[in-house]
Amino acid sequence: MERKSNIDWGSLPFGYSPTDYNIRATFKDGKWGKPEVSDSEYIQVHMAATGLHYGQEAFEGLKAYRGADGKVRLFRWQENAKRMRNSARGILMAEVPEGLFGEMIKEVVKRNAKYIPPYGTGATLYVRPLLFGSGPQVGVKPAEEYTFMVFVTPVGPYFKEGFHPVAVELVHDFDRAAPQGTGRFKVGGNYAAGMQASERAHQGGFASVLFLDAIEKKYIDEAGPANFFGVKNNTYITPKSNTILPSITNMSLIQIARDLGLTTERRRVPVEELETFEEAGACGTAAIISPIKKIVDHDTGRVYEYGEEAGPVSTKLYHQLRGIQEGTVEDVHGWTEVIEGV
Ligand SMILES: Cc1ncc(COP(=O)(O)O)c(C=O)c1O
Repeated sequence: MERKSNIDWGSLPFGYSPTDYNIRATFKDGKWGKPEVSDSEYIQVHMAATGLHYGQEAFEGLKAYRGADGKVRLFRWQENAKRMRNSARGILMAEVPEGLFGEMIKEVVKRNAKYIPPYGTGATLYVRPLLFGSGPQVGVKPAEEYTFMVFVTPVGPYFKEGFHPVAVELVHDFDRAAPQGTGRFKVGGNYAAGMQASERAHQGGFASVLFLDAIEKKYIDEAGPANFFGVKNNTYITPKSNTILPSITNMSLIQIARDLGLTTERRRVPVEELETFEEAGACGTAAIISPIKKIVDHDTGRVYEYGEEAGPVSTKLYHQLRGIQEGTVEDVHGWTEVIEGV
């Protein structure tokens, strides 16, 4: 089935819209089968699948970018493949080898080439790989069968009005992850655990939450589905914690910050330090950087403010990374891969 593609790229939401194809592979009897392309948005799953009952599920998120030169690029997809293997190990699922992961994401992007938004619209093609226990178990133990699938969906720019700072709510009464739990893996359960806090924040007019460390509530952890960073004295500072998902965007911004002559620090960031930052932001694939204009702590009544406009360091980092992804800035680290034939 071919779907219509008279898409108004400029008004696409950051959400799901259908494309023509997705791709699936099954791990059975100790090995991965051949990937199969499907035109159905549905999957048939055993009702006792461990992915449904015991949270054996992990996912990834990356994008295909149409560059200024018309080429389509993937950004550091091998890092997503590695993180997914790490997530799989974390909750005892079958690991997807890098080769299979790469083959499947490229195939599904190529098959849906007409959904890759044109350069200059701010829209991109979001790529969502997911892995889950699809084999039945009733006792709590790992499945023997796993499904890995990849779908794509065109998404609009994260910020409709451009690169604008957002308000964030500091959360004391919810934890996204426990120190020896699954916070560093990209598993569905972490997102379920954070939903009450993030929905409350959205209803309160905040773009995101900022979680604190679960034990002492003294250190900054993560900003919802993004990593946190602060900037002061020409230094890019980002929290170190076992409950944070290692963001590929953050990893890249650290490198770019160094390339631009900034000092970088990954260390514990006490809440009090928030008042010393000149700039603050949340970073992730969706928006690259969401500059933060203020962080509100309802518990202490404190509000940390960073201004209505994005700061100079965040702005520079954002444009540099976006330029690499879109092929307008030289990719000196070899982070992008052009998908041939699209
Ligand atoms: C919890 C969490 N932290 C951070 C990130 C940002 O990671 P990345 O830069 O790899 O998109 C994401 C999004 O993937 C996330 O879900």
